[in-house]
Amino acid sequence: MVLETKRLVLREFARDDWQAVHVYAAAADVVAFMEWGPNTEDDTKSYVQNMIVTQRQEPRKVYEVAITLKQDGSLIGGCGLHVEAHAKAALGYCLNRTLWGNGYATEAAYALCKYGFRELQLHRIFATCRPDNTASERVMEKLGMTREGVRREHFYAKGQWQSSLLYSILANEFVEL
Ligand SMILES: CC(C)(COP(=O)(O)OP(=O)(O)OC[C@H]1O[C@@H](n2cnc3c(N)ncnc32)[C@H](O)[C@@H]1OP(=O)(O)O)[C@@H](O)C(=O)NCCC(=O)NCCS
Repeated sequence: MVLETKRLVLREFARDDWQAVHVYAAAADVVAFMEWGPNTEDDTKSYVQNMIVTQRQEPRKVYEVAITLKQDGSLIGGCGLHVEAHAKAALGYCLNRTLWGNGYATEAAYALCKYGFRELQLHRIFATCRPDNTASERVMEKLGMTREGVRREHFYAKGQWQSSLLYSILANEFVEL
């Protein structure tokens, strides 16, 4: 699977990508709001390996892809759709700190949502973020998602109970640009 946008190419992860992935997966400021990380090198290698396994699953449930810059092919992050029952999927994204604020996450997530609704015939795509993760919440808003509410302290990670904002968009609400 390859998706092309104005500035990006979203492509499948390959084994040699682990070092580029490790740049963001091992950075404390990037993973501060994530359930996982900061990664060790072994964590990142097994993450990439797991993603390669999911590419071949039938039926495929995990569409997690590398975000690369069209201009030089560099891998700057990852984003994914995790398909669940009832034609719904969870959306996630993560980007190198140095590339934040350029609209790349929104551009990548938008392309993935379009793929999800058009090609995978999804009915609903949802995303969550920690309440303080303003950048992630803003991406959800820019995608046209609706805020459904707060899931209060629904999981325990990094030494404390974590809450999440829940956003979603339905197929008939998605505006194709
Ligand atoms: C969330 C993340 C992917 C966003 O990537 P990005 O490429 O910078 O996102 P975009 O540029 O498309 O949009 C970010 C928006 O948030 C806004 N923003 C960023 N930090 C902000 C802050 N502290 N307060 C208010 N707005 C903020 C930006 O201004 C931008 O909005 P705008 O276009 O209206 O100006 C990136 O910050 C990241 O990788 N964070 C760590 C991983 C993570 O938290 N992933 C999501 C898990 S739920």
